[in-house]
Amino acid sequence: MRTLISGGIVLSAAGAVPADVLIDGEQIAAVGTALGPADQRIDAVGRYVLPGGVDVHTHLELATPNGVACDDFVTGTRAAAYGGTTTIVDYAGHERGEPLLAGLARWQARAAGHAHIDYAFHMMISEVNDQVLAELASLAGAGVTSIKIFMAYPGVYMIDDAQIYRILREAGRLGILTAVHAENGAVIEELRREYVTAGQTGPRYHAASRPALLEGEATGRLIALAELAGAPVYIAHLSAAQALAAVHAARDRGQRVYAETCPQYLFLDEGLLSGPDGARYVCSPPLRTVTAQQALWQGLQRGDLDVVATDHCPFTAAQKARGERDFTLIPNGLHGVEERLVLLYQGVGAGHISLARWVELSATGPARLFGLYPRKGAVVPGADADLVVFDPAAEHTLSAAAHHSAADYSVYEGMTVRGRADVVMQRGEVLVDADGFHGRQGAGQFLRRDLPQA
Ligand code: URP
Ligand code: ZN
Repeated sequence: MRTLISGGIVLSAAGAVPADVLIDGEQIAAVGTALGPADQRIDAVGRYVLPGGVDVHTHLELATPNGVACDDFVTGTRAAAYGGTTTIVDYAGHERGEPLLAGLARWQARAAGHAHIDYAFHMMISEVNDQVLAELASLAGAGVTSIKIFMAYPGVYMIDDAQIYRILREAGRLGILTAVHAENGAVIEELRREYVTAGQTGPRYHAASRPALLEGEATGRLIALAELAGAPVYIAHLSAAQALAAVHAARDRGQRVYAETCPQYLFLDEGLLSGPDGARYVCSPPLRTVTAQQALWQGLQRGDLDVVATDHCPFTAAQKARGERDFTLIPNGLHGVEERLVLLYQGVGAGHISLARWVELSATGPARLFGLYPRKGAVVPGADADLVVFDPAAEHTLSAAAHHSAADYSVYEGMTVRGRADVVMQRGEVLVDADGFHGRQGAGQFLRRDLPQA
């Protein structure tokens, strides 16, 4: 089957060109003019044609101490497709004492036969010992070439500085990229105790116990440990200006430090935690100030931040409400996999970023960093035909009623945005168009990733 997407403006991380896109089977065959013949045609006049979004930070079905994230691989990947994201990299995990590959097998079973879109995995590391370090090579052999470690969540995921150094060194030696949750978990634990003892237990004290200062401190410490280990490092869900400054300084020195922020840190602020449904906005790191948002937009503009991913980890209103009066009981995380592309596009309209940067931050950059490029994240011959036809003029309102996550509320409720993914394709098949959803459960494929060539 050959499909021609005609008359659109093709966007890439390099810019915008008027061109047609010819798809043959699952791949892009050509980009240019006077292409054809084709069996079917999609009219893209007046619209952008861009690579399907690559969201490298999702937590589908994640079991947290206060509840299980409410999107599974069926609902989460369907929501992603509606928003123009055609690839996710989800965080698989293992229990302490459990081999990494056993944990990975559990996540593979959750995704296979369920995912609507293609997926890869990072592995969350719960402990560092000789056994885990020895297993990293087989993890890469299984197609998982990135891991996540935690400087937060003591008793669950947190590892100490010596362990961070050890795993960074081994991962770096193997060519595995380490993503890090950089908040000072030990001091946060102390602040949590102080607030609880003082009876200050409303949702806003979740944020108060995780100050920007401690994200900045952890990020700076991590960067020093990575330098010592001679390893690249990827800061996940960066939210604080202090952390951004540490990244900026390290990159100026030529260190291989990469960083991601998320839509919630660009569009929502800490004031929401003091509102009537404050618990619904609890995530870690927490929402910050409006000033921090401005710093993040500058970071995206300047190139200090490489990726906008979502940290999609949704819960229902009832799950969140359990901790209304005690922030230590609120499950941490927000939805966003469906809204990411259009939210970031608002940054184009506001003059914060260019169209090329929009594509780079949401597709090309993450695909490159995590070993998926050029199969994903590019509109070039030979790439998978994962494409979005995006109407830049369509105005609509974000709401729980209109979104497709299993979360029954929206943190963006009532926000009017410009732009919409009208047609979404994965490997040449239409997932979403004006007639609705055509995706198939289980059509999503596991994306094995190779280690970078030495
Ligand atoms: O609040 C968040 N971010 N929950 C998901 C787990 C994590 O730390 O990424
Ligand atoms: Zn995290």
